[in-house]
Amino acid sequence: MKTIEMFNQELAEACKKAFPDRADDLVFGEGPVRPKLMLIGEAPGEQETLRKRPFVGKAGKNLDEFLLETHLERKEIYISNTVKIRPTKTGKSGRISNRPPDKEELAFFTPWLNQEIRLIRPEILAALGNTPLHALAGKDVTIGQVHGTMVPLIEGEGTLFALYHPASLIYNPSLKETYKADLALLASLVHGIAGK
Ligand code: URA
Repeated sequence: MKTIEMFNQELAEACKKAFPDRADDLVFGEGPVRPKLMLIGEAPGEQETLRKRPFVGKAGKNLDEFLLETHLERKEIYISNTVKIRPTKTGKSGRISNRPPDKEELAFFTPWLNQEIRLIRPEILAALGNTPLHALAGKDVTIGQVHGTMVPLIEGEGTLFALYHPASLIYNPSLKETYKADLALLASLVHGIAGK
């Protein structure tokens, strides 16, 4: 059976062919196989790329709140991103900043993400924001419509729990209470309180 180490190795080789200048910046998923929860973000940012770990730096703070609200520890969940190299743009002044993943990046990384989910076999899969939601459940759903619910995956029989991306709360603080209520629901699903 393929291990996650073998998967990461294959991904690194394929990424080198598809994005030769950026393959050294790959940020792999981390965490145990068969976890209670697999959490999928959008893409690594600057800190993640420097430290080669998902959700560290500013995004790590968001994750800390996520863990607090869901009564989970980082080490018991598997954390990954839809696109695993940092999408960047360069401004007129030469400043490098993040941008949303483009079609080419999504087309390359989505099949790898589906394979990663099959290897990790989480009890519950949760997506942060529209990028993983669209990649895994299709473009006819938006996070505004389906947040706080289980959405069918395009591939296989599974479902994913849709959440706003915590970064979107910075631009829209009124979503904070909704996000917290969605996290409470996710916590009850993960800890087996709801739906039993
Ligand atoms: N950091 C990540 O690793 N993923 C995100 O989606 C945002 C920040």
